[in-house]
Amino acid sequence: MTKVTTLGQFIIEKQADFPYAKGELSRLLRDVGIAAKIVNREVNKAGLVNILGDTGTTNVQGEGQKKLDVYADEQFISALSSGGECCVVASEEHDECVSIKSEISRNAKYIVCIDPLDGSSNTDVNVSVGTIFSIYRRTAADGPVQLEEILQEGTKQVAAGYVIYGSSTMLVYTTGKGVNGFTLDPSIGEFCLSHPNMRIPKNGTIYSINEGNYVKFPQGVKDYIKYCQVEDKATSRPFTSRYIGSMAADIHRTLIKGGIFLYPTTSSHPDGKLRLMYECNPMAFIVEQAGGKATDGSGRILEIHPEHLHQRTPIFIGSTEMVDKVEEFFQAVDVAVPIPVTAAG
Ligand code: AHG
Ligand code: MN
Ligand code: MN
Repeated sequence: MTKVTTLGQFIIEKQADFPYAKGELSRLLRDVGIAAKIVNREVNKAGLVNILGDTGTTNVQGEGQKKLDVYADEQFISALSSGGECCVVASEEHDECVSIKSEISRNAKYIVCIDPLDGSSNTDVNVSVGTIFSIYRRTAADGPVQLEEILQEGTKQVAAGYVIYGSSTMLVYTTGKGVNGFTLDPSIGEFCLSHPNMRIPKNGTIYSINEGNYVKFPQGVKDYIKYCQVEDKATSRPFTSRYIGSMAADIHRTLIKGGIFLYPTTSSHPDGKLRLMYECNPMAFIVEQAGGKATDGSGRILEIHPEHLHQRTPIFIGSTEMVDKVEEFFQAVDVAVPIPVTAAG
């Protein structure tokens, strides 16, 4: 009989990787898994109940907020509050960070940054959405958490993950020792290890970008897109274009099949659109841990020093060789030397 490993069992087994740990991080990850199951139940019912549509409020980004965003945000904050390991949550849905005030969280050591529902505009068309999270340790021993403790570089993450509510529901996470994926078996209500030690292919043939914004892209990105579209047998071009519009889902495909996901600066979003703390950093940590690469066009996403909770950044993430190629196109624009688009030149 095949042995099934549940998320809970796996987390406990892996605790041995951190001899200094007392199980707090394991409990925190378990709490995230519990909230993910509750959100999954609601996402699955979204077409049935009158839960879709705007609440009439906007979030801190000034974007329309769907009811499921609010629901997911409440569920994750509630699970993290009752777990006792998290002292503060920085969520896409809150202007300021949310301090956890429960008595059991008084000495909590962990900070969670979260996009509770990613790709929320896809909920009313039954397309995959996700949750993206990032976990840091407090830098101070005790006392009220200061903003500087939350604004840590991505290299300081102790864990990160995402949940994808798709044709099946999966939770994928890393604690800095590789990446593992778990699929929810609805019949037993458990996430089961289905994708152990995930590795992203070094190269790929899929590019993923909102090409409708083409005229607004920097020249290096325009040149790279044209490169993807040129016929060249040696490099299997033209590449395939795939764009779901939920970062979690687009990155999940990229992780499994190889490829590149791009959200560059645009003339209307001069700092990029995606958020560093709860979208780009966790995904960069996961993709690097799987053997891939994530940059903002000039440097590593994980080394950006954050100045604001809701800071945005351009991102180029995926198979190492494809991300390297985009960087080449950026550099070519800087030095005004065009790159040949076919292998023969
Ligand atoms: P969210 O629903 O959390 O605001 O995130 C949406 C994000 C991300 O998931 C996706 O990659 C991107 O926005 C899509 O943006 P465009 O519609 O501009 O392509
Ligand atoms: Mn998002
Ligand atoms: Mn969101």
